[in-house]
Amino acid sequence: MSLSPAFFDYLKARQHLINQALTRFVPRLSGPAARLTEAMHYSLFAGGKRLRPILVLAGAEAVGGEPEPLLPVACALECIHTYSLIHDDLPAMDDDDLRRGKPTCHKAFDEATAILAGDGLLTHAFRLLTHEELEERFPAARILAVIRLISEAAGLFGMVAGQMADLLAEGKKVSPEELFFIHRHKTAALIRASVLAGAMLWGATEESLEKLSQYGWKIGHAFQIVDDILDLTGDEKTLGKPVGSDLEKKKATYPALFGLEGAREEAKKLLNEALEALSPFGTEATPLRDIAYYVLERKL
Ligand code: IPE
Ligand code: IPE
Ligand code: MG
Ligand code: MG
Ligand code: MG
Repeated sequence: MSLSPAFFDYLKARQHLINQALTRFVPRLSGPAARLTEAMHYSLFAGGKRLRPILVLAGAEAVGGEPEPLLPVACALECIHTYSLIHDDLPAMDDDDLRRGKPTCHKAFDEATAILAGDGLLTHAFRLLTHEELEERFPAARILAVIRLISEAAGLFGMVAGQMADLLAEGKKVSPEELFFIHRHKTAALIRASVLAGAMLWGATEESLEKLSQYGWKIGHAFQIVDDILDLTGDEKTLGKPVGSDLEKKKATYPALFGLEGAREEAKKLLNEALEALSPFGTEATPLRDIAYYVLERKL
C-alpha cells in the first residue's frame, strides 16, 4: 500500500491545528524571561512533523473520542519532545548543529539558554497537562492517570533512561537486547504514551487500550529504526538534521547491528505487527493505520 494524497491533506490539517494550539498554549513573555521564551519558540516552531501530538488525536479518534478538547495534552507532548531534541543536540550529548532545518538551539542562542529552553518546555508540559480546559471536560482521575502515563514515558522509566543508555553505548558493541532497551526507552515509550493519552481521557476500554499500547510500541520501535536508517541514507536538506551523525559518534543503531537490509526488514515486520494490533478497530482507526505506513515511508 502507498499513502494517498488524502492522508497528506490530513497530516497538513493536523499540523496546522497543532501549530495554532501551540501558539495559544505556549506564551511568549516579556522582561527577563523574553530570551527564554524566544528560544523555546525558536525550536518549537522550527518545523517538525508533529507526530506525537497527531497521535494523541488519532488515538482518541480510534475509540470514538473528539480531538479538539485534547489539544493541551497534544501540545504537552510536543513540548516534551522538543525539549528532548534541544538537549539531545547539546555538545555534551550528540553535539549536532542542525535541527528542523535550522541551527540547533545552542547554536542560535547559547548552551545555557538551550538548557533552560529545554527545562522550560518540559516543565510547561506539566502545566498544560493540568490545564483548566482539561479539568472542565474530563474526570480528574483520568487526567491523573494520563499525567502518570506521560511522566513514566518521559522520565526514568522511559526517554531519559533511554538517552542515558544511548550515551553509555557510544563506541561499544551492544547486544540486540541492549539496543532494544535503548530504542524502547528513548523513543518508543513517548510515542506509545501519545497513542494512549487521548484514548484514556475519552474513557477507552482496557481491551482497546491494550491494543493501542501494542500498536504504540511497534510504531515507536519502527520509528527509531527508520530514524537510524535515515541517518545513513537520508538527504540532509529534506531531513533538516545532519546525516552521518550516528557514525561519527559511533552510536548503537539498528543498521550498525543488523545492516541496512536487516533494519528495513525489521521495520516492515514491526509495521505489520502494528497493523495487526489494530485489527479489532474499524475505519475510525484509519488515521492510525496511515500513520504506521507513514512512519516507514517517510523521508523526513
Ligand atoms: C526525532 O524525532 C527524534 C527521535 C525520537 C528519533 P522526529 O523525527 O519526530 O522529529 P521532528 O519532531 O519531526 O523534528
Ligand atoms: C534521540 O535519538 C531520541 C530522543 C529522545 C531525542 P536521536 O539522537 O537518534 O535523534 P536525532 O536523530 O538526533 O533526531
Ligand atoms: Mg541522541
Ligand atoms: Mg541526536
Ligand atoms: Mg537519529
